[in-house]
This record gives sequence, C-alpha cells and structure tokens, in this order.
Amino acid sequence: MTTAVHFYDHEPTEAYSLSMREDILKGLRGRPKVSSPKYLYDQYGSVLFEEICRQPEYYLSRTEEAILASVVDEIGELAGEQLSLIDIGSGASRKIRLLLEQMSISNYLGVDISRDFLIESTSKLATDYPWLNVHAICADFSKRIPFPVELTDGRIVAFFPGSSIGNFTPAEASAFLAGIYHALPPGSALLIGVDLIKDPSTLEAAYNDAAGITALFNLNLLTRLETELDAQLDSGRFFHRAFFNEKHSRIEMHLVSTVEQVVAIAGETFQFREGESIHTENSYKYSIEGFQTLAQRSGFTCRKVWTDGCGYFSVHYLEHQG
Ligand code: AVJ
Repeated sequence: MTTAVHFYDHEPTEAYSLSMREDILKGLRGRPKVSSPKYLYDQYGSVLFEEICRQPEYYLSRTEEAILASVVDEIGELAGEQLSLIDIGSGASRKIRLLLEQMSISNYLGVDISRDFLIESTSKLATDYPWLNVHAICADFSKRIPFPVELTDGRIVAFFPGSSIGNFTPAEASAFLAGIYHALPPGSALLIGVDLIKDPSTLEAAYNDAAGITALFNLNLLTRLETELDAQLDSGRFFHRAFFNEKHSRIEMHLVSTVEQVVAIAGETFQFREGESIHTENSYKYSIEGFQTLAQRSGFTCRKVWTDGCGYFSVHYLEHQG
C-alpha cells in the first residue's frame, strides 16, 4: 500500500534562493551585520538542530516534551474531536506523535521551509498512521501561512512548539500571532511552547553545549554561504558566541570574526574588523504573564498554561473565541 502526502510547494527552490541571497546581502551590508535565523535550517542545519535537542544542556525540547506528555489528556479535552492539527515549523516529529497518538486528530498539516526534511518526516507520519490524512506545505512561516482550504472548515489546533516564537522580536511575535489568529476560524486554538526567563547561566549553557553542536549549527551558515552564495571565506576565521542579553531578555547568537578580514559573498566584498560579528539569531525568553499579555493583544484568550517543576518552560493553550 502506498500512503500519499498531499504536498504543496509555496517556496519553489529557485525563487527562495534568490530572495535568500538578497536578504543575506542586505543583512551583511548593515551595521551590525545580521542574518535571519531561518537560514540556519538547510538540510544539515535541521539535522544539527535535532542533535542540539539531544544535548544535556539544551533543556527546552526535552522539558516541553515532558510537559506535553503529562497534560496531553487535558489538551485533548480542551480541543475536542476530529481535529485538524497544523504543525508550524514541523521539524522533528516526536512531540507530534504524542499528540497524534493520544488525541482525536483526522487531518495533519506540516509546514516547514526545509523541503526534503519536511517530505521525509511527513511521509513517515503517513506510513505510521495510515488513518491520518497527511498534508505538507513547504513555506516560510514568518510570511503568511497558506492554509489549504479543505483543512479550515473543521476544528483546528495549530501547534507551534519549541519556543520558535522566541526567534521573533516581541513586535514580530505579536504580528505573527495576530496573523495566525486571523487565519484560523473561531473555535480553533493555538498550542504554543515558550521558553521562560531563568538564571543566565542555565540559559547560556543551553546555547553553548559542551559537545559543540550549537557551534556547528551556527557555523553551518558559513558553509551555506559558500555552497549557495559562492562565498570565498575561511570558516576557521569565525567562532560561535552565544550570550544572554538581559536588557532585551534574549539569547543572542553570533559568528565572530577572529581577525580583520575581507570576505567575498556573491561577488560583493564585506569587511570584518577583528571581533566583529554576524548576528545570526535571537531567542527571546518570556515570563508567563509577559507572554500572555502578548497573546491577548493578538486576539487570543489564554485558556490554560502548564509548566515543569523547575519553571523552565511553558506550554500555552490559546483560544480563538471569535
Ligand atoms: C528552534 C528557535 C527554538 O532558539 O532555542 C537552538 C534554535 N538555536 N540552539 C532556540 C536554537 C540555538 C531554537 N529554536
């Protein structure tokens, strides 16, 4: 028997690589030099991120999974039956499996920018859960998410795990939440994982794992620039740096130049001072109240929030009450 995934391509590779090129060059022309965290997720970057989730210092994924496992019955009761589950930034499917196995879900839609990774993971779901209607959209969820119409007439639960919301600034996060709110029919919900403010040493350890996987994940951006944007550079002349910026309540990840150097990317040259960096990611941390205020401003009603015993991570059930 063949199990089919209904696949929609919203970011055809060629158009996407053109826009990536423009976006990256624009970010590098600015001061400070920046690059959007979404460019960390090519195929290898997605694999490395999964490896990060297995590192002992990276408590986020494991803590969220434990919270979900302990409250999935409650989530099921809040959500009801015959649901369509929309998995935003679907990536690894362990948490999703937990929901699929213990809730009443008829349709699944995975949304991710990493095309091959998305196809691979949704195909596995289709094989393992033959009763499930599986859809996949290759799309950049920081833009508008094009929900297929056939999914938007039942009850929908959107799932945005992992504290991916933390990659947005608070202003972008509230615009993103408002976008989801307006895309979903009344009666739907958003189940979202949000990392919490805690002591800086725990936060910083999570982004500086001893095995160096986060460093590889960050440095992989340079490999991408070499292979996709024809960059002429020596990645040995950059190092990974991550620290907690208390003022903005965010972990910042940077690629720091070890020397003064000139790097050519897509035919353009970029000067780096010694110690100058490319700011590659922000990971905002919230208090429960701070996040709830943001969610409410975007239209949602905060129906329920769960956290772990240490208060490290939170999972919110937000409702679109119409
Ligand atoms: C997937 C965006 C939630 O910010 O913690 C992990 C990505 N970056 N280690 C995060 C990430 C470095 C992760 N998010």
